[in-house]
Amino acid sequence: MFQLTRSVTWQALERLRDKTHNDRIRDYFTADPQRFKKMSLRVGGLFLDYSKHQVSDEVLAKLIELADHSALVQRRAQMFSGDIINVTENRPVLHTALRNLGDEPVYVDGDDVMPEITRTREQIKAFSEAVRSGEWKGYSGERIKDVVNIGIGGSDLGPNMAVRALLKYRHPELHFHFVSNVDGTHIQKVLSRLNPATTLFIVSTKTFSTQETLLNAKTARRWFLENAGEDADVGAHFIAASTNRRAAMAFGIREENVFEFWAWVGGRYSMWSSIGLPIALSIGFEGFIELLEGAHEMDRHFIEAPFSQNMPVLMALIGIWYINFIGAETQAIVPYDQALNQLPSFLQQLDMESNGKSVDIFGHPVNYKTGPIVWGQTGSNGQHAFFQLLHQGTRYVPIDFIASLKPEPGVEDHHFALLTNMLAQANAFMEGSQGDSKELSQHDPYSCPGNRPSSTLLLDELTPRNLGALIALYEHKVFVQGVIWNINSFDQWGVQLGKRIAGEISERIDTNAADFDASTQGLLELVRAHF
Ligand code: F6P
Repeated sequence: MFQLTRSVTWQALERLRDKTHNDRIRDYFTADPQRFKKMSLRVGGLFLDYSKHQVSDEVLAKLIELADHSALVQRRAQMFSGDIINVTENRPVLHTALRNLGDEPVYVDGDDVMPEITRTREQIKAFSEAVRSGEWKGYSGERIKDVVNIGIGGSDLGPNMAVRALLKYRHPELHFHFVSNVDGTHIQKVLSRLNPATTLFIVSTKTFSTQETLLNAKTARRWFLENAGEDADVGAHFIAASTNRRAAMAFGIREENVFEFWAWVGGRYSMWSSIGLPIALSIGFEGFIELLEGAHEMDRHFIEAPFSQNMPVLMALIGIWYINFIGAETQAIVPYDQALNQLPSFLQQLDMESNGKSVDIFGHPVNYKTGPIVWGQTGSNGQHAFFQLLHQGTRYVPIDFIASLKPEPGVEDHHFALLTNMLAQANAFMEGSQGDSKELSQHDPYSCPGNRPSSTLLLDELTPRNLGALIALYEHKVFVQGVIWNINSFDQWGVQLGKRIAGEISERIDTNAADFDASTQGLLELVRAHF
C-alpha cells in the first residue's frame, strides 16, 4: 500500500525542512531580487503574493513534485466530470457544474445534469426578479421588504458571507437577515423588528431535517400565523431551497417555490446553487451570474494552469509545508475589509469540515497531520486583539491577508490607512524588530523575532465576480490538500454523530437515560429541572 510519508518526495521535503529550518525569509529577498516577481501571480481580478513564506526555491520545487506525484490530475478530472469521489456517501461532487454556464453535458448516473441546473437557475432568475420588482406580493398585497434566511452550516454561511460582502450592490428596499442558531433568542430578536406582511422567509436546508433549521422555521411560521395571515397565506411568505421537496411541501411551501438542488452539492459548497437565492435577491440575478462566472474562471485556471503557476495548488502546497513539515497547527485568515467580516467563519467551515479527517479514503488511519484549525477576523481589528500572540507568542501561525484595492468613494483616507496597516503587519511579521535601530535590539528579550510567514491576496475590487473567484480559489485549495492527504474532503461523519446524539438526548429528556455516561446523566438532570 502507498504510504505518503514513505514516498521519496516526502522524505526529501523532511530533509529540506532540516536544511532550511534556520533560514530567514528576508534573506531569500536579499539573495533573489526577483523573488516577489517570481512568487506572485494574477488570475483575473485576483493577485496573490506568496513570496513572504519560509519556502526556498528548492522547497517549492519539491512541493510541486509532491503534487505531480499525487492523484491530483486524475482526481481533479474525476471531480469536474461527475465521477463518484465522495466515496463514503457514494456521490459525485459537482458544485463546479453549478457555475459552468456552458452547455457541455455533465453526467450523473448516465443523466446529463446541466438541463436541470439551467432550469433551476431560470427559476431563481424569475423569482428574484419578481421579488425585487415588487411584482411578488405578500398575503395582504404589499411588496416584500425583508428577507430572512433560515439555515445553518453551509445553508447559512455562504449566502450570509456573500450578501454581507456585496452589500453595496444590494437592492435599496430589501433588507436581509440570517437566522441560524437554535438558540431562540436569535430568531426572536430578528422577528421582533419585522412586519410579517412584508417579510419573506427562505427555509434553506439541503435535507429539510436539520433540527435547528426546522425549529426556527416552525417558530417563524407560528409568528406569521399569530401576527398576520392564515395557513393558506404561508405559501406567499415561505419558500425553500432543498433537495427534499416533499418535506418542504408538507411544511406549507408551494411546490413551485421549492428551489431544488441535488445530493451531489455538498452543504459547504452550496452557495452556487439555490442556497445562493438570498444573493440573487440582494444583488440581482445578473450579479449572481457574475459571481458564478468569477468562480468558473477560477475553475478554468485550476484545470488549465501548470502546478507551478496554479493559484489554488500553490496555496495548498504552501499550507502542506507548514502543516506537515514545519508543524503549524493553525491558519489565520485576516481580511482587511469590513465587508468580508464573515469570510473567516465561512472558510472555517469549508476547510475544517472538509479536511478535519484522520482516515484516508480507504478508511485507514493516517500517520500525518491533515486540515489546520482555521480562524481569524478582520484587520485592523485583529491587530488590537490577537496579533500580539502572532508577533511574539510561542506559536507559528501562517496568515492569509486579504484586501481589495479600490477604495469606496468618500472614505479614501480610511482605505489608505487600512491597506497600509495590512502591508505594515505583513512586513513586521517577516522582519520582526531585529535590525531596526529605533526598535529593541535583537538581543532584547522583548524584541519581535519576525520570520513569520504570510500570503497577501489582493482583489482589484470587491465585486461579485472577484468574490466568486476568491471562494472558488479556497474551495480548490482545500480540495488539493485533501487529495494529497488522500482523505475524503466531502463527508462529515463527525457532525452527523453530534446530530444523532442531540436527537437521542432530546427524546430521552423525560426518561431515565441510564445508558449515557454519568456526566451526561448528571447534567441532563439539571436541564430536566427546567422543562
Ligand atoms: O454542519 C453539517 C452539515 O451537514 C453541513 O454540511 C450542512 O451545510 C449543514 O449541516 C446544514 O444541513 P442542511 O442544509 O441539510 O440543513
